[in-house]
Amino acid sequence: MQLPPRRTQPARSHRSKLGVMIGRGALCVVAAAVIVGVYLVPSPIDPKPFIFEGPPPALEGPLAVNTRLQKGRRLFAGQLKGPESFTADDHGNVYTGTVDGKLWRIQQDELHFITQMGTNIPECGTDTDYEPLCGRPHGVRLDRHGQLIVADSYLGLFRVDPHSGEKTLLLSSRDGADGIPFGFLNGLEISRNGTVFFTDSSSRWGRRHVRYEVIETNHLGRLLMYDPETGHVKTLLDSLYMPNGIAFSPDEDFLLMAETSIGRILRYWLKGPKAGTKEVVLNNMPGYPDNIRASDRDTFLVGITTIRFPGRLFPPFLDLIGPYPAVKRFMTKVVPLSWYSVLLPKYGLVLELGLDGEIVDSLHDPNGSLTWAISDVFQHGGRVYLGSTDLPFLPVLEDLR
Ligand SMILES: *[C@@H]1O[C@H](CO)[C@@H](O)[C@H](O)[C@H]1NC(C)=O
Ligand SMILES: *[C@@H]1O[C@H](CO)[C@@H](O)[C@H](O)[C@H]1NC(C)=O
Repeated sequence: MQLPPRRTQPARSHRSKLGVMIGRGALCVVAAAVIVGVYLVPSPIDPKPFIFEGPPPALEGPLAVNTRLQKGRRLFAGQLKGPESFTADDHGNVYTGTVDGKLWRIQQDELHFITQMGTNIPECGTDTDYEPLCGRPHGVRLDRHGQLIVADSYLGLFRVDPHSGEKTLLLSSRDGADGIPFGFLNGLEISRNGTVFFTDSSSRWGRRHVRYEVIETNHLGRLLMYDPETGHVKTLLDSLYMPNGIAFSPDEDFLLMAETSIGRILRYWLKGPKAGTKEVVLNNMPGYPDNIRASDRDTFLVGITTIRFPGRLFPPFLDLIGPYPAVKRFMTKVVPLSWYSVLLPKYGLVLELGLDGEIVDSLHDPNGSLTWAISDVFQHGGRVYLGSTDLPFLPVLEDLR
């Protein structure tokens, strides 16, 4: 048997070397084209640098890690997706709105559909692209006449009859206030005299783009006041960093308001010598605050949507990129919006604040065994309801302590 001629070997290896060289050249050209391409593509966001005052506070004292938030159970698994905000009537019924644009009454642990905030199509709740059409109720409260007042993130401020489901649009997002449309209605409270206070988190990004809103760290949010008697709407504060939940003090002499994107709580004075002014009461928080609720013992409860503790390997992701607009711009060009949730740890956290905004206690679910990404903490009828923006269940605790 004859061996193949030896001389073909060098020729073949020469050809493959050439192949590798051409391959490398092509790769460089492609890589250069991608870099130039990515550089030329406009970024969806116009980020500002943001640097926290310091590293997040240590998990000690009132922030010490515990598992108190794990001692609950999940209701309506697979039926209620993203119950964001809660309220209750005098008969023990609890009301909430979900990611598919629907409003619900929970009556003796049974779920009753009230209405669809927008257009009821089968696609509602399947993809965030349908939210502007289907609606997305956030803040819900009952007014003095037993009617629900609902801040729909996309559509505007509504009055809804909790029994018939009849809806009345009070303020459309298109009209907004002072010539600026609402982009992202969010928190809502009704004062004793019936005035409705609410927040528009951003005039630029809607709810489904909340990650852009946080990464961009703009200050295009407002605190507003609506008088149902006159139909008049007034801007109380503007230039806010993603204002979100609000809660009155027990005497309604002030309200606290979360600025989600920069992890901060403001106090806005309603009465007294400082009426109409704001001040920072809590800064450099251990996470991004969502809704704030009055507790049953003259404190406030704050749901933390994403924690800011350092992980075992990385410092908190948003702290890391905060100071670098170029990094944020690049990242939002190449990373699809839906991927960011992978970066977020599944950690449940609730903060309890004293009347001056100081942290007095905290509840933790360190591995999310009951819940995480908490939007609202509502005490009612001996229970605590925990909201979220898109988890497909309703976690409840039998007690907070
Ligand atoms: C209603 O109450 C709010 C909050 O306490 C206050 O800011 C507002 O001025 C009151 N409105 C009227 C008409 O009294
Ligand atoms: C979470 O931690 C608890 C202990 O606090 C443990 O019992 C549970 O199995 C853990 N769950 C998961 C999903 O890791």
